[in-house]
Amino acid sequence: MSLERFSVSPSTRPTAETIRNDILDNPGFGRYFTDHMAHVRWTLDAGWHGHEVRPYGPLTLDPAAAVLHYGQEIFEGIKAYRHADGSVWTFRPEKNAERFRRSARRLALPELSDEDFVDSLKALLARDQAWVPTPASEADESSLYLRPFMIASETFLGVRPSHEVDYYVIASPAAAYFQGGVKPVSIWLSSHYKRAAPGGTGYAKCGGNYAASLAAQKEAAAHECSQVAFLDAAENIWVEELGGMNLFFVFRDGRIVTPRLTDTILEGVTRDSVLTLARDEGLTPEERPISIEEWREGAASGEITEIFACGTAAVITPVGELVTESDRIRLSAQGDNAVAKRLRTRLLDLQYGRREDTRGWLTRL
Ligand code: COI
Repeated sequence: MSLERFSVSPSTRPTAETIRNDILDNPGFGRYFTDHMAHVRWTLDAGWHGHEVRPYGPLTLDPAAAVLHYGQEIFEGIKAYRHADGSVWTFRPEKNAERFRRSARRLALPELSDEDFVDSLKALLARDQAWVPTPASEADESSLYLRPFMIASETFLGVRPSHEVDYYVIASPAAAYFQGGVKPVSIWLSSHYKRAAPGGTGYAKCGGNYAASLAAQKEAAAHECSQVAFLDAAENIWVEELGGMNLFFVFRDGRIVTPRLTDTILEGVTRDSVLTLARDEGLTPEERPISIEEWREGAASGEITEIFACGTAAVITPVGELVTESDRIRLSAQGDNAVAKRLRTRLLDLQYGRREDTRGWLTRL
């Protein structure tokens, strides 16, 4: 292990244990942050250097920093789970590291090595391990959500890839992303807005994709929906993904279908894990285009028996209905979302160390 690369300057004002415990009892999502953050700097001349763990706090950025003007930024989402014996683990970090490199290439940012990516999580957790919640029961999916991100920090208003870049990891204790646990959510279908176009940045995890989804997310909220579903930009027919999650459709005959990966779809780590775990559950996974008409007809005929969203933050969450400008698409065969629940239990059991990790998906932090 080469964690020694990360110098450590401990917080001089760490959160008091009583306050931390109050936060861990009811963390919500993305509201509270731990005492430290990891940081690595990159410059065109020196490459990656200055690995450190330092107290969590505001960044000092010049108002002309490129990221503030042209959005040259990427991020990741990954969780740390506390097992029953107190040890702390993360799930398939090499997949996030690889995706982070892919996102970097698309946004003309420097690639961070997989070793630096994984070690930055370990170095931060070596300091802030006490912030990883201890689940109260098997139904409790609390964890420490880790947010690695990279920004263009050069002071320069010319439009070109930045010559100075900073990488950080911050961490936030998290309960379920959707309030109400596994209660099915309502999804809004945006008839106008698109999330991504061929040749664009859809497959990269960059802030711009999320910024582009917010006007549609606002429409969703106005229709009392908690997420928005996007169709493809070219034909306006094909189901792509939600604002921040991938989608799966469960068919009556045991097939489980998710849109195949294109350059407009983010390759979710949970998506990939579900495709594998589905086989363990005796299901037949399929990656292929699925149209809004197939959704509508399959829901009406009972061919489609369940729909669920998945992502690191959301885990696996059943979709109750799709709300459009003109109608509400509900499953005629709406049952108890048994398949989504089975997959969710299998995934969480693996992540929390309640099921044997036969694929080497867990990494100790
Ligand atoms: C994640 O699932 O980690 C994401 O980045 C999505 C976001 C909705 C929180």
